[in-house]
Amino acid sequence: MNEHVIVNIAGPLMSLTMNRPDKKNALTNAMYGALADGLQRAHDDPAIRCILIRSEGDSFTAGNDLSDFAAVSAGAAPTERHVTRFLHGLAMADKPIVAAVQGLAVGVGTTMLLHCDVVCVTDQARLTTPFVNLALVPEAASSLLLQARIGYARAFSMIALGEPVDGKTAVEWGLARYLVSADGLRAKALAVAHSLAEKPIGALRASKRLMRDGAQLLQVMDRESAVFAERLKSPEAAEAFRAFAEKRSPNFAKFS
Ligand code: COA
Repeated sequence: MNEHVIVNIAGPLMSLTMNRPDKKNALTNAMYGALADGLQRAHDDPAIRCILIRSEGDSFTAGNDLSDFAAVSAGAAPTERHVTRFLHGLAMADKPIVAAVQGLAVGVGTTMLLHCDVVCVTDQARLTTPFVNLALVPEAASSLLLQARIGYARAFSMIALGEPVDGKTAVEWGLARYLVSADGLRAKALAVAHSLAEKPIGALRASKRLMRDGAQLLQVMDRESAVFAERLKSPEAAEAFRAFAEKRSPNFAKFS
C-alpha cells in the first residue's frame, strides 16, 4: 500500500493511478514498489485481463523523484530499489497495458509508455526523455525501444537534447495511438481497456509474447542499469540534482 499509488480493481480491469499531483507525480522508490506489486498481482490473478496506467492532476509524471536520485548519488541508496522490479514487470507483462497520458511525461514517464500496448495522449501532452541533461543515460530498455519506434535521429534528439514531443506528434511518430481531448482521455482509455478485456485472453497474451521479446528487453535493461548506476554516482549528476534543488541551471563546464 502506498498513498501515492491507487490500485483499483473493477471487474477484469486493474487501474494503477499515480496520485502525487503536488509533485507532478514524481515517482519515489515506494511508488515504484506499489506499481510493481500491482503488476505482479495483475499477472497472478486470472480475473484481471487488462491494466490501465493513469494519473491524477495536470501531469502524467515528472519521472523519477530527483531527491531520491540525489540521495542515491550521495551514497544513501535504499536497501531495495523497486524501480528494477517495476521495469522488469513491465517488460515481462503479457496482459495488455493501456496508458492515459495528460500533460508532462518526463523520463520514465515516457519510457514506460514504450511497454504499454495502447497509449492515449491529450493534445497538451509533452513527452520528454532528458537523460543527458541530468547527466544520466536512457533506461527501461529505451536505448533500444525508442529508436526502434521513432528512428535514431528523433530518439537521439529526445535523449541528448531533451527535445519534447507533443501529443499530436507522439501519435504521428507512433509513440501513442490515440489523440484525445483532456476531457475525453479517461473515457477513451477505459473504452479501449474494456474492449481488450473482452478479447480471448489466451490469444492476446500469446500475441504479446510473440510481438515483444521480454528476455531481450531484460538484457538491455540490465546493461543500461549498470551504466545508469555509475552515472548516478558521477559528479556531473550530483551537479544536475543540486541545480534542480536550488532551482538554477546546471553548470557542466567544469567537468571534462
Ligand atoms: N522529483 C522531485 N520533485 C519534483 C520533480 C521530480 N522529478 N518534478 C517536479 N517536482 C516538484 C517540484 O520540486 C515542485 O515542488 P515544490 O512545490 O515543493 O517546489 C513541484 O513538483 C512542482 O514542480 P514545479 O517545478 O514547480 O512545476 P513546473 O510546472 O514549473 O515544472 C517540471 C514541472 C516537471 C518541468 C519540472 O518540475 C522539472 O523539470 N522536474 C524535473 C523532471 C525530471 O528531470 N525528472 C527526472 C527524469 S529522469
